[in-house]
Amino acid sequence: MRLLLAGDTHGNLGHVRRILRAAADRGIEDVFQLGDFGYWEHEQSGVRFLDSVHRAARDHGVTVHFLDGNHDKSGLIHRRYGDRPDDEGFLRVRGRIRYAPRGHAWTWDGVRFLAFGGARSVDKDERLKEEARRHQKAARKEGHRLAAGRPPAEVPDYAGTLWFPEEEATDDDVRGVIAAVTAASGGTDVLLTHDKPRATRPGTNRKDLDICLPNQERVQRLVDELHPRLVAHGHLHHRYTATLTRPRATTRVEGLAADPGVSWGLPGYKVSDSWLELDTVTL
Ligand SMILES: [Fe+2]
Ligand SMILES: [Fe+2]
Repeated sequence: MRLLLAGDTHGNLGHVRRILRAAADRGIEDVFQLGDFGYWEHEQSGVRFLDSVHRAARDHGVTVHFLDGNHDKSGLIHRRYGDRPDDEGFLRVRGRIRYAPRGHAWTWDGVRFLAFGGARSVDKDERLKEEARRHQKAARKEGHRLAAGRPPAEVPDYAGTLWFPEEEATDDDVRGVIAAVTAASGGTDVLLTHDKPRATRPGTNRKDLDICLPNQERVQRLVDELHPRLVAHGHLHHRYTATLTRPRATTRVEGLAADPGVSWGLPGYKVSDSWLELDTVTL
């Protein structure tokens, strides 16, 4: 089985279409996107994005899988679709779009996969401030309406529209996943994450900040305990390959670049660095 792994897409429909074309050109039927996909179904633009991705994927004969990045409102996925996982345990957001919940493990062609989304937003404070600013603006507008004798209307509070409290994994998440995967299959072959494992040292790392390290440590714990042969992740918006050598296993780490919308101007950026072919036979 061949997959096309894809880095952050951030709701960039043109880029997702490009990825789908790249998959179809290679005869690949499954794309796995590594978070910051653009799941914003709380906004009309997010609904349109999902509908358009579904249609484009169907036209190319491709299914899109994704895990949650820090900029995907994954709590809403669980509220809307969490009660009906499909036959492989994915949540079907659209006919051709499947979400892999944090800690979801499955097997394709005898290869054990584990998805583990989440990361810390470096711009969390700005996003919270913007939510508060929008609320204050709406409250002022409502004040003017009431002063003009209009009937009262609800003031939206905007909490959870730009920053999502579920963005980071927890230590309990990690402990639970390690226990479940170890009991079920002894480990994993491919670990798909949004965040990087702590131990890699990419040449460019915009997330090398103290606030980002706890979640990187969680991913690292999964690597150390579950011994994947391959880890692929997004989030850094930077393409690199690293090897982590430990007594029990050697792990190849592939960090993928992101869509051009956030990447023009990054040194050495190439659009094709935002995807990577994975063949389960030659893993
Ligand atoms: Fe991103
Ligand atoms: Fe991210």
